[in-house]
Amino acid sequence: LENGLARTPPMGWLAWERFRCNTDCKNDPDNCISDRLFRTMTDLLISEGYAAVGYEYINVDDCWLEKERSYNGHLQPDLRRFPYGMRDLSNYVHSKGLKFGIYEDFGNYTCAGYPGIIGSLETDAYTFASWDVDYVKLDGCYSHPSEMDKGYPEFGFHLNRTGRPMIYSCSWPVYQIYSGIQPNYSSIIESCNLWRNFDDIQDSWSSLESIIDYYGNNQDTIVPNAGPGHWNDPDMLIVGNFGLSYEQSKTQMAIWAILAAPLLMSVDLRTIRPEYKAILQNRKIITVDQDPLGIQGKRIYKHKGIEIWARPITPIFQNYFSYAIAFLNRRTDGTPSDVAVTLAEMGLLAPGGYRIEDLYEDVDYGILSPQTKIKVKVNPSGVVILRADVQPSYGRVSTTYNPFK
Ligand code: GLA
Ligand code: GLA
Repeated sequence: LENGLARTPPMGWLAWERFRCNTDCKNDPDNCISDRLFRTMTDLLISEGYAAVGYEYINVDDCWLEKERSYNGHLQPDLRRFPYGMRDLSNYVHSKGLKFGIYEDFGNYTCAGYPGIIGSLETDAYTFASWDVDYVKLDGCYSHPSEMDKGYPEFGFHLNRTGRPMIYSCSWPVYQIYSGIQPNYSSIIESCNLWRNFDDIQDSWSSLESIIDYYGNNQDTIVPNAGPGHWNDPDMLIVGNFGLSYEQSKTQMAIWAILAAPLLMSVDLRTIRPEYKAILQNRKIITVDQDPLGIQGKRIYKHKGIEIWARPITPIFQNYFSYAIAFLNRRTDGTPSDVAVTLAEMGLLAPGGYRIEDLYEDVDYGILSPQTKIKVKVNPSGVVILRADVQPSYGRVSTTYNPFK
């Protein structure tokens, strides 16, 4: 969507995967979906250094609403849990220099059973604008996926008509795919800043693996749709929760950067351990994710549990891209695997070579020619991610501009 927003993938914090639909503020006041939770995360995003590396949005997900609309048909938050209203919470987030996101659903109900927007598209768009919302996630439960080609753009039209710039996050393709409809991605690109293609992430390695496989197996249809203003969303970062080991957490962060994915952390920032926080705050990997070209990467090799993923990034020199390259070890035999490959075999052909740097470990490989074999040791369910910056040369240059040729 060309609304000037999300020129790089959005970064922030999103409640759902970690805090779900916990509405029990009586027995669990610290973890229920409430004004207090979002103010706490706002404060921590800043005091713990997340905002300084680019995390910007504080996003409410499902279960913030009252069970019914107001007498005049307006959405209203559950006032026991959001006693000051959403406008006040939004003001608080803005007062800290951050941006505020909210959740609704295109159908009759949200996925958790709260009022959806069907029949109130224009009213709800104005309500969000009046609360100074910066980001709207529009889910697709309790709706007809066949109506989405019309309905998602219609809500986007109303958002636009409010005059307030709001990122528009859609679940349009994923619900259509599940009901056997082929998504019209050119229309989705035109209407949405990001969209979900696949299953909800859960707090487990198997869930993460299934998402990685989905994006790899379907890359030819998915990858070309990504670019500045319009991104595929493989769902939240679950780094720092319960289900991923340290190695697996590094894998999610690295692969999300290769996928040019939105970086929406869903984790308890009060209790996250320092080594997981360091993964989420890895500036070198965030820089890959936020690369201005906005080209989504691909799985370029998969054999016997070893995968190589590559993403073209800046700088470019005479039609040669730089690359981020992730080596992923899906083997379960318990020992780190050696992977040895020449840069040329991965499509890195610039005659001047590449400066190679490891993005997790402090290793600088120096400048290597395309014929050099590089060798990495990849831990089981872990990753090695490198950055290869193209080096100037004034020799023979190719005229092709396809980063994957
Ligand atoms: C769907 C979405 C999730 C989350 C829940 C909330 O499952 O895909 O991301 O928003 O609904 O109920
Ligand atoms: C039917 C369905 C509702 C709603 C409308 C939209 O009435 O029962 O859930 O989706 O269609 O057209």
